[in-house]
Amino acid sequence: MSDYNILLLAGDGIGPEITGEAVKVLEAVGRKFGHTFSFTEALIGGIAIDETGTPLPGKTLALVKTSDAVLLGAVGGPKWDTTDPTKMRPEQGLLALRKDMKVFANVRPVKAYKQLLNASTLKDEVIKDVDLVIVRELIGGIYFGEKKRTSTSATDTCDYDIDQIDDILKFAYLIAKGRRKKITSVDKANVLETSRLWRERAKTILELDKSIQYDNMLVDNCAMQLIRNPAQFDVIVTENMFGDILSDEAAMLTGSIGMLSSGSFGSEKPALFEPIHGSAPDIAGKNIANPLGTISSCALMLRSSFELDEEADAIEKAIEAALEKGYRTLDIMESNKTRVLTAEMGDLISEEI
Ligand code: IPM
Ligand code: MG
Repeated sequence: MSDYNILLLAGDGIGPEITGEAVKVLEAVGRKFGHTFSFTEALIGGIAIDETGTPLPGKTLALVKTSDAVLLGAVGGPKWDTTDPTKMRPEQGLLALRKDMKVFANVRPVKAYKQLLNASTLKDEVIKDVDLVIVRELIGGIYFGEKKRTSTSATDTCDYDIDQIDDILKFAYLIAKGRRKKITSVDKANVLETSRLWRERAKTILELDKSIQYDNMLVDNCAMQLIRNPAQFDVIVTENMFGDILSDEAAMLTGSIGMLSSGSFGSEKPALFEPIHGSAPDIAGKNIANPLGTISSCALMLRSSFELDEEADAIEKAIEAALEKGYRTLDIMESNKTRVLTAEMGDLISEEI
């Protein structure tokens, strides 16, 4: 019996709805296994700009330090959308949070649930054996390099140093070692200097252990291979922006971006858990968003931050059971299935647990 203190950053758009269902599910896990999950809510993103004038208030950051894990919904929305470099954006809050927490490794598992093979726009035979993990470097590269803007030009800088590259490669290596032992390092070494350094480090680090099968792939080819033959991949390790783009693409192998979870890790605790999708302002407040990406992010949290494997398995099994019984939110709805709302999906998963 243990107590876990979770910082809840619901954010914008569908954020409050999906994190609300995740809380429900964690409470069900707590009742079943005798744990207490306590939740502290704090502001991030657009709502934080509105209420405090900054997308990541100091109060939120202070609460991160005293929490065992952070669960985030989503940030952003049309209200704060601007191309004016002097205006604040909700996304700056998320990026600053990741940077402050030093969570350099973002892990995005992509696995096709057999119940959802028809929900994908791709053929069954292409996606049925998909079980891959994208390991995305999260606090470097073009997202964080120097930016400049004049009235006639704009610059974003992509920098990586050896330590940053080595850290993420070693992290991905350990994940591959615990899986099918195959790692694909994705870069654009035919064009970018950062990628050439990345490729040299990948060779140095990943060739050391001969039990690991390692190869390099150019990012444009990887984008194609993910659609052509995604089952070839085990662990994909890549830089920040490539990982952002490839993980949205890979999400479609599972039928919906609403299904994908993620965990972001650094060398210290806490870790950060969030679905990979955005704030979906077009469907916010309608109780129709898919909460399963956030709920499976909680399974990742239980397993990796709290070492509660059985509890994590219980969430994953509950998701499968609900899908098996034919329950679907709008994004994964098919004929002959039962359409449920966001909150009903949360209830169903909790009942299964
Ligand atoms: C993601 C999102 C974020 C990112 C946005 C909201 C800043 O797309 O987590 O993939 O680009 O990292
Ligand atoms: Mg993204």
